Amino acid sequence: MDTGMTDKTYKHWQLEQDEENFVWLHLDKADSSTNTLSEAVLMELEDALNYLHRQPPRGLVIRSAKENGFIAGADIGEFTHFESQHAALEAIQRGHRIFNLLESLNCPTIALIHGYCLGGGMEMALACRYRIAEDSPETRLGLPEVRLGIHPGFGGTVRALKAAGPLTALNIMLTGRSFSARAAKKMRLVHYAVPRRHLLNAARSILRKPPKQTPLPWWLKLLNHRLLRPWIAKYMVKTVAKKAARAHYPAPYALIDLWQHYADDREQMLREEAASVASLLVGKTAQNLIRVFGLQETLKGLGRKLDGKPKYVHVIGGGVMGGDIAAWCALQGYQVSIQDREHETLGRVIQRAFDLYKKRLKKPRLISTTLDRLMPDLPGHALARADVVIEAIFEDVEVKRELFRAIEPQMKADALLCTNTSSIPLEALAEALKKPERLVGLHFFNPVAKMPLIEIVRGKSSSEENVQRASAFAKSISRLPLPVTSSPGFLVNRVLMPYLIEAVILAEEGVPLKVIDDEAVEFGMPMGPIELADTVGLDICLKVADILSQNMDISVPEKLRTLVERSQLGKKTGQGFYAFKKGKPVKTAPDKDYIPPADLQERLILRMVNEVIACLRDGVVDNADLADAGIIFGTGFAPFRGGPMHYLQDRGTQQVYKMLEQLQQRYGQRFTPDSGWQQWLEQEADNG
Ligand code: NAI
Repeated sequence: MDTGMTDKTYKHWQLEQDEENFVWLHLDKADSSTNTLSEAVLMELEDALNYLHRQPPRGLVIRSAKENGFIAGADIGEFTHFESQHAALEAIQRGHRIFNLLESLNCPTIALIHGYCLGGGMEMALACRYRIAEDSPETRLGLPEVRLGIHPGFGGTVRALKAAGPLTALNIMLTGRSFSARAAKKMRLVHYAVPRRHLLNAARSILRKPPKQTPLPWWLKLLNHRLLRPWIAKYMVKTVAKKAARAHYPAPYALIDLWQHYADDREQMLREEAASVASLLVGKTAQNLIRVFGLQETLKGLGRKLDGKPKYVHVIGGGVMGGDIAAWCALQGYQVSIQDREHETLGRVIQRAFDLYKKRLKKPRLISTTLDRLMPDLPGHALARADVVIEAIFEDVEVKRELFRAIEPQMKADALLCTNTSSIPLEALAEALKKPERLVGLHFFNPVAKMPLIEIVRGKSSSEENVQRASAFAKSISRLPLPVTSSPGFLVNRVLMPYLIEAVILAEEGVPLKVIDDEAVEFGMPMGPIELADTVGLDICLKVADILSQNMDISVPEKLRTLVERSQLGKKTGQGFYAFKKGKPVKTAPDKDYIPPADLQERLILRMVNEVIACLRDGVVDNADLADAGIIFGTGFAPFRGGPMHYLQDRGTQQVYKMLEQLQQRYGQRFTPDSGWQQWLEQEADNG
């Protein structure tokens, strides 16, 4: 690029003016690999924009000097430090002021976008007159604020509506989804999607001869009419309510209200947007969702990159789990071989992989190159070249040991050996190995393509280095690694099981299944426990329950055993607790005058919480934050509550403890508070 003279250098920005009097404003946030809009970044931008107002150039281009993208959003870390709603409002109003300065510059302005352009970054781009995005798979544009319990707050609601029209803009903001450059162009979020090599020239030619902006077609504008808005808003509220309850997730509803009531008056809508975000930002939901975002970053950090990225993955066992693990690893870019005893099984693996790739990749060329990376390998020839070997055969100690004895001599000396066992202590398996330190558990969840967590199981003999390698591997396949010790059920299944069992006990007591599930969903679980058990498969639930009951004080309900004996295994057989039609459970509503037990929700949730406390006492995970992260990402535990330990502390440890004691008096020893409570009660007392 012809840079000409440098006019101004800031800590985070660099302002260059070229001989055509175009200004190029580059963001390169100091001490950070990613650009975010921190207070410091915004203050400097304000200074630069004031300068440009005083000495208007012929045109302005804003771009990022970072390879990975434009701007990933606001600096979320700063969102947790507001002392009051007023302080939050002031920060938001500053953002408004700065983006208004950008919008009102007396020259054509361009956001030149590559990589991430999300949240506040997208809002900044929307304040520019033109947006050019690089047409590449790395480019992602969107307004994902709703996922943090807020909505766009730097004027983005108003500007997105103007750019894309109400239906599209609201859809973008309500779902929080991100889009490719081409999709964004179709939606009018950007004006041009061009290959990297044309980006600079495209910007220059626009500045030289700014094209006329095409206004929104009349039919899109019509949807903004004040007589139509209440109807559209009503429909949108109904759609949102199917996914997120207003009481738990207020942001999408606030956004719809904002549009419905203020879309006629730009200035008022801007003011109301700021007020609405400030109020959401200091609310519990946003603070908890921001916490969850932080926990996710913590888990990602545990999978730090290691030298020498593995290239070849060999999976043994092509059943439910192994097949999907192999398909997933190939989708994530690895060369994968999949070994099984049977031809037919391998055929099914490839078919399932094809279905997954078709859904995810859509383009035939991408599907076939990904399938090329997944090689069926009945005899296991590829084992010898593998950097990572993942075992996912039958859950049987002897069978697994025998396999390990057979494969170890064929493996590369430094290859990592992982087992997907869900219940066998790693020590029992490592006994079969000459180098027991190489074995680490990599406990995936079903369905592999949907569940973001992998428990990284550390056996007594696993070396620290291999635990780190396994975590890094998990991260490299876009999964969140959670280190746990090798104890029955690890973290997630151990915590989930008492909750599922309590649900079955309630069913045995005659509480209608739908009522049990509805109560859990009402608490914020993504699916009720009965439907979850049916979906996972009752045979698998029974197996895990039986194994856990050998070490934990749980008794397996007869009802579960009876259903399995009758081969009513849930969704996969079309009948479990529920009957399934077209893959959906048929739920019958209870009698009109049925009154559910008042403590139903407490019974379900507190059994889970009690078990989390027990896991912490046992040292299954290192700390309460990791326990929260594991339970949220492993079970979908109500994210807006910030995790079970956070929920406990939020409600008051003492109060929840008393509730548990009452349940113990009412229902017996399964509600006995774990001895680990003492520590948390003392901690609460110490904190006053
Ligand atoms: P599965 O029964 O569906 O598949 C096992 C596969 O291993 C079969 O295709 C079988 O032919 C193959 N196999 C058995 N012995 C073999 C050998 N010596 N060499 C090559 N292939 C062999 O079992 P699933 O459900 O996939 O479970 C596998 C492992 O994953 C188990 O350790 C299980 O505990 C664990 N797991 C299962 C979960 C689930 O939801 N099903 C969840 C998490 C872990």
